[in-house]
Amino acid sequence: MLIGLGVVAVAVILFLTWKLFSGPQIRIPLTPGSKSFYGHVHLFNGITAADKYKYDELFINLSDPKFVGSAIGHLKMWFASEITLSSVKTAEILFKSRTNVDKSYQYNEFTRWLKDSVLILPHKAWHTRRKQLTPAFHFAVMENFDTIMKEDSQLLVQAIKQDPTRPVVQHILDVTLHTIIETSFGTSFKSLNESKPYLDATSKVLHYLWSRNVMDFLSSCSQWYYYNVTSNGKLEAQAINDLNAMLMILVRDRKKELASGETRLYNGRKSFLDHMVELQALEGNLTDEQILGESNAILLAGHETTTASVSWTLYYLCKNPEVQQRLYEEIDEKLAGRPFSALEVTSLVYLNMVVKESLRIQPPITFVARKLTETLTVDGLTIPPGTDVDIMLYWLHRDPEFWPEPEKFDPERFSTENSRGRNPYAFVPFSAGPRNCIGQRFASLESRILVAAVIYNFKGHHNSAVRGGSEKRFD
Ligand code: HEM
Repeated sequence: MLIGLGVVAVAVILFLTWKLFSGPQIRIPLTPGSKSFYGHVHLFNGITAADKYKYDELFINLSDPKFVGSAIGHLKMWFASEITLSSVKTAEILFKSRTNVDKSYQYNEFTRWLKDSVLILPHKAWHTRRKQLTPAFHFAVMENFDTIMKEDSQLLVQAIKQDPTRPVVQHILDVTLHTIIETSFGTSFKSLNESKPYLDATSKVLHYLWSRNVMDFLSSCSQWYYYNVTSNGKLEAQAINDLNAMLMILVRDRKKELASGETRLYNGRKSFLDHMVELQALEGNLTDEQILGESNAILLAGHETTTASVSWTLYYLCKNPEVQQRLYEEIDEKLAGRPFSALEVTSLVYLNMVVKESLRIQPPITFVARKLTETLTVDGLTIPPGTDVDIMLYWLHRDPEFWPEPEKFDPERFSTENSRGRNPYAFVPFSAGPRNCIGQRFASLESRILVAAVIYNFKGHHNSAVRGGSEKRFD
């Protein structure tokens, strides 16, 4: 009798455990490489924080339509299913959804840092917050940052000249973080050295987050509560506290200044932080903790991505000297030797084409991921609620229906004529649908100003550009 009860109890526990950890049942063939118990998890073994790009690379390889045999892949992470969508036609269906906007488990590890910020909030709360933040990213606000962005582009040029052997990507990282703090937090720094502590503190947090991401072989079962007790978890918490302490000084300063009636305006517009502090004062529904969360989100979203975009653009310009020459001529003809406004940079047609082609071929964010709250039907296949779905921007940008010879760097793809009638979901570096990038205009403006400044000052080929370069001014 006792043995019988024991067997039943064990069976019930096993069933409940299976129910708890197994995702919804999905009838989509598994992507090759899966093992019977742990699925594809073993493939992620051995990736460390030092080679974080391998993590991205692995997802890219595992969702390659040629490898999967279809544009819809099915990964198993222990018991949970993760669907990959790698064609424009399949991704479009999810992008168009107004309800399936929740982020997937892959964003969980950001919660300790970004709290309940716009980047990770679920549906309803996200919607309210997004509406609150949108005015701070209006195009008119961006235009007013052109002075800061132009000054910062000169800081980049000087930094490269002073230390030409340092990888350019590091210089760009310094400058993009500097710019995001100056523009979003209303702070003015005298030099890149002054913003360096923020960059160091942010890089430290990112380092621990990445270590966690790649060691996270428990995948979808992982949550911060067990991670907190690990030594890495403690270091991560310390790094977040340090960065928050630095940001909190900026928040308190702005609050004090605003309380004493001192507003810092950029041609009549407020910075992101002033906007948040004012919302707190007027509506009273934003806590300091939430302001910190949003500030961190802007810091994260606003510098690594732009750095990747500018760096890749410069890389392709080095590899394609004829494109570089044409771009140089456009800048020389339209902007050189006189003051110009941000709007004029956005009117440089070829520069725009070049930056876009670089974003197509190397999207800084290679995939975005959602947890379905409602059933999704793609190509006649049903994906139930609760499933994590990755939209592979990298593969959308290589979809043969829209992009012949996808590995070829060819800015002509983005000429007005060639762009006409193209499916809007074929080029989505800033994602698409309701949860697209709020900082798209900011990023486009900044990337174009930085690329133009570097090309104008260092036109040349490969490293010779950095060593010598043109003496003409672009400021
Ligand atoms: C080239 C540069 C950039 C690229 C390629 C990029 C790309 C993206 C992508 C793909 C998403 C969607 C993420 C997801 O669904 O998981 C996103 C979201 C977001 N981005 Fe950007 N981004 C860039 C620059 C910026 C900048 C400069 C800012 C801020 C000033 C920013 C702020 C945000 C925010 C706040 C979100 C979350 C939006 C939401 O969920 O409602 N991004 N970005």
